[in-house]
Amino acid sequence: MKSNQSNIKKAKKYLDSNECIAVPTETVYGLAGNAYSDSTVKKIFKLKKRPANNPLIVHYYNLKGLEEDCIINEDFKKLYNKFSPGPITYVLKLKKNSKISKYVTNNKNTVAIRFPKHTLLRRLLKILNYPLAAPSANISSKLSSVQPSDVKEEFGKKLKYILRGGRCSIGVESTIINLTNNLSILRLGGLNVSKIKKIIKKQVSIKNKSKNKISPGLFSLHYSPGIPLRMNVKKPNKGEAFVLIKKRKINSKNYFFLSKNNNLIKAARNLYPLIRKIKNKGYKKIAVEKIPNIGIGQTINDRLERASKY
Ligand code: TXA
Ligand code: MG
Repeated sequence: MKSNQSNIKKAKKYLDSNECIAVPTETVYGLAGNAYSDSTVKKIFKLKKRPANNPLIVHYYNLKGLEEDCIINEDFKKLYNKFSPGPITYVLKLKKNSKISKYVTNNKNTVAIRFPKHTLLRRLLKILNYPLAAPSANISSKLSSVQPSDVKEEFGKKLKYILRGGRCSIGVESTIINLTNNLSILRLGGLNVSKIKKIIKKQVSIKNKSKNKISPGLFSLHYSPGIPLRMNVKKPNKGEAFVLIKKRKINSKNYFFLSKNNNLIKAARNLYPLIRKIKNKGYKKIAVEKIPNIGIGQTINDRLERASKY
């Protein structure tokens, strides 16, 4: 508890002096900096090797200060009351006099915002005088980080500080919903779309695969382990690591299990670190068995599909 307190203070010190640092969230680790500071936001893009046209998510503690930055609406209020803090990101209209750096939004008139749930990060956000711009803490297009050692692997000594918050409980990124015109899901994520639909009781289209490039980051190769990956595999080829959804009594060292008993929530949590582990073991190819396309299984399949674009 005490060490957490001093770590939060340390994190604040770095952030107040316009550095970017890694922070834990319930979804994945973020590479965070003052969202109101042009120079800090530029550092985030540089460190992550992120194309400037791919906007960042801004993380808030609560509604305080939010209405100075963006225009909220009824759908937002309903979803916020039900799901925030939690694994959902809202795209809203940006206010003209908002303090958010233009580099965060790539000069667009919308902004993506989120209220993360991780206790340490919430304690940090509460004492800051600005919200945090934070993309996932990985080099652009690579696998996301779900524990401090992943963050280290991605950035090495280039990153000044990691606020250590253990392993992420959800393990895949937030679900992104566009609330600015026709409601649409821009990225499948940690919160099931069916739960969102139940609350807003309106048509919600899923646009994560459309040619309509609202979120540039969502369409190219992404979440890539850097080696070929194929999906829906019944039998692996020689030399391939084989990823299975549930534990089997097979004593083959190239078999890896996402969960003990077909648990999709646990599988989502294990997805990125397992693929990272396989890569680090030196495998040159990955095969994944068919993952049930229900609930968070849809998010797992979405990530695997993008990772397989290698
Ligand atoms: O769970 C998460 O959302 C994590 C944690 C750290 O909060 N963050 C995350 O950020 O996944 P990132 O940068 O890896 O992905 C953000 C996605 C990008 O694909 C970007 O294109 C989209 O959000 N995005 C950001 N601003 C947007 C906007 N104004 N309109 C549409 N899409 C936007
Ligand atoms: Mg990302």
